[in-house]
Amino acid sequence: GIASAFKTDPTSIVGNELASLTKNIKSLLGSGHPFLDRVAKYYINSEGKHIRPMVVLLMSRATAIAPKVDGWNVDQAVLDTNAVNTSLTPLGILNDFNPDHMKLSETKTFTNLGELVLSTQRRLAEIVEMIHAASLLHDDVIDLAETRRGKKSGNLEFGNKMAVLAGDFLLGRASVALARLRDAEVTELMSTVIANLVEGEFMQLENSNQDKLSPEVARETLDYYLQKTYLKSAALISKSCRSAAVLGGATQEVADAAYQYGKNLGLAFQLVDDMLDYTVSAEELGKPAGADLNLGLATAPALFAWEEHPELGPMIERKFSEEGDVVKARSLVVESNGLARTKALAESYCQAAIDALACLPDSEAKEGLIAVVEKALKRKK
Ligand code: FPP
Ligand code: MG
Ligand code: MG
Repeated sequence: GIASAFKTDPTSIVGNELASLTKNIKSLLGSGHPFLDRVAKYYINSEGKHIRPMVVLLMSRATAIAPKVDGWNVDQAVLDTNAVNTSLTPLGILNDFNPDHMKLSETKTFTNLGELVLSTQRRLAEIVEMIHAASLLHDDVIDLAETRRGKKSGNLEFGNKMAVLAGDFLLGRASVALARLRDAEVTELMSTVIANLVEGEFMQLENSNQDKLSPEVARETLDYYLQKTYLKSAALISKSCRSAAVLGGATQEVADAAYQYGKNLGLAFQLVDDMLDYTVSAEELGKPAGADLNLGLATAPALFAWEEHPELGPMIERKFSEEGDVVKARSLVVESNGLARTKALAESYCQAAIDALACLPDSEAKEGLIAVVEKALKRKK
């Protein structure tokens, strides 16, 4: 239940698998060019929270003991995994690219189904983190960011050109690893995510599908914002959760539940992010604070505040570009109920994420997934 979830440390439940995550990703990123190697690994080496891979691993375990599609069993899964190991052929992409690194080598004997994380699911967790790191490299170029995770951002450290190319390289290698999972449905899901990230980012650049903003379109603008937020922030985690379930032979019902969990968690997570942008200092965040208004972005707190303060409309429309807009908008948002309404909306998504898990049998991993939701709401960075 929710009460006991406070004591649950989701990281430790899948601690064994997470411990080898960074090392395994690095083995997928070897390049013949040492400098490309360095740039591509820059965010992989920085102190990320690894929330996405953690959720993938927890979902893998939570769905391992749920109903399976007809004809699927664990022996089969381990057998399939071995098949992936042995059917690989060298790619010879670059002189010192070692295709052996792409192989899924680890199989073990499971005594308890709830401990079962397939090597394909572990690889999925690595792919998810690679796609995430790629999107951050590109995002920091777009956002002109100077810091990330308490360090210089990739674009500042290496320049825009190298940051963009390193992101592309990460996507390329993530795609190779994805292809090697030999699962067409998962390949389709995760490839769609990459397109979704770009679609979300594009929607954000455009900011609205309205030419003229008026209070009457505030609601529509919120819908646009939520659609953008799904694509930019929730698509990766939701489709990764579904992929984890699919790789484990889950039924449609279980795969749908995994997807709904990820979607609602992702939406809640971004709403909290957009709230923290107003409430927490850059020092605490390890990245710029108050960034959104400076970037011309009206996120949920500003959109809710707009309903109370119509004078925000023109500022949103001109993307806070006039002298004094950012300061004025910030104080209007902070004194409105925009932050409280954003929090309430995040809470409702959190509850929907927890509700989605109802069809899964109780387990330590399920408690872990619930604890992730609780933490997402309470986090300060
Ligand atoms: C962070 O948002 C950005 C994302 C979650 C997605 C960014 C996607 C792209 C740049 C499209 C290209 C995609 C790929 C896969 C290369 P934010 O700027 O609100 O968060 P921040 O405060 O952490 O910077
Ligand atoms: Mg950014
Ligand atoms: Mg951004």
